[in-house]
Amino acid sequence: ADLSARNSFGVAARAPLLAEVDDPAALPDVFARHLSGGAPPLVLGGGSNLLFAGDADMPVLALSDDAVAVVDDDGSAATVRAGAGAHWHRFVRATLDRGLCGLENLALIPGTVGAAPIQNIGAYGVEVGEYVQAVEAFEPASGRFIRLSRQDCAFAYRDSVFKREPGRLVVTAVEFRLPRSAAARTGYAGIAEELAAAGIDRPTPLQVFEAVCAIRARKLPDPAVIGNAGSFFKNPIVAQAQASALAAAHPGLPVFPGADAGSRKLPAAWLIEACGWKGAREGDAGVAPGHALVLVNHGAASGAQLLDLARRIAGSVRARFGVALEPEPRIVGARW
Ligand code: EPU
Repeated sequence: ADLSARNSFGVAARAPLLAEVDDPAALPDVFARHLSGGAPPLVLGGGSNLLFAGDADMPVLALSDDAVAVVDDDGSAATVRAGAGAHWHRFVRATLDRGLCGLENLALIPGTVGAAPIQNIGAYGVEVGEYVQAVEAFEPASGRFIRLSRQDCAFAYRDSVFKREPGRLVVTAVEFRLPRSAAARTGYAGIAEELAAAGIDRPTPLQVFEAVCAIRARKLPDPAVIGNAGSFFKNPIVAQAQASALAAAHPGLPVFPGADAGSRKLPAAWLIEACGWKGAREGDAGVAPGHALVLVNHGAASGAQLLDLARRIAGSVRARFGVALEPEPRIVGARW
């Protein structure tokens, strides 16, 4: 099967088999007939958090169920269940249209609902895990459907049980618990300014959604126009002492809080820009001119060329700052 049109980098790639499943109830049968024995299948959502550095040697499974339903509503909050195949951004918009909020800061993130909990998508001060009530999944090894609570998902920065144990579970649907009203979360850099420029001082969730869309559209290349997978690296977490030493040696380096008192998060984009990579281009593989964390395919780059560029970027950041960068998208067909 040809996967060129199914990855947002737009690189050429093939897989031995592509199984498209609309009804998750068919999964036991699909696994028994087509997916047993060899390597676990690659579960493909929007293909927007993935780099095919070569062909996939495993079969590919895509879930297309995109049903959205309110399953519980007590007036102040509702539980909304969405199939794994639902388009993330349209789903966020649909929750706002129903008078629910919480997901507005996560507007315009490419991909599907099923992919959202895997890397615990996050943007503008919000991570999806905060609003996930449960994740429904199929476990091929046992042939059973299971339901994971938010705690079971073990969400962390761009991480979850699904990412830590690849291949164990196939996410089939996600349940979100969403309030009808909540304080707008405008603390993250850029949002308050965007709203102020529009003369809005008490934003509705829809206005926050629109502000986030405007900021993203300005900074991040649209994968429909130029191939990319969003941030290519995670922001590195370092010990507080290392962050202080780096900040002293490199005035201007922003330092953000980590998950605990002893750790700090550094902006990978800043480190990469300081090494001179922003806007760089080698053949058709490049770094976005508007954001140093985004690798782009200007046309005909191969996945291997993009991976090679990523490795050289990480190498120069390590040499200059002593900080290791880890890729954020899943890399298929090669090892990082
Ligand atoms: N910066 C630079 N150069 C650049 C861009 C940014 O120096 O070219 C510095 C700025 O100093 C800024 C800091 O990096 O203060 C952070 O930049 P930004 O707010 O754009 O966010 P980010 O840390 O680069 C993260 C997420 C994005 C998410 C934004 C907004 C990760 C890996 N990335 O990027 O998520 O949209 O925050 O919340 O955590 C994604 O995961 O694919 C993604 C796009």
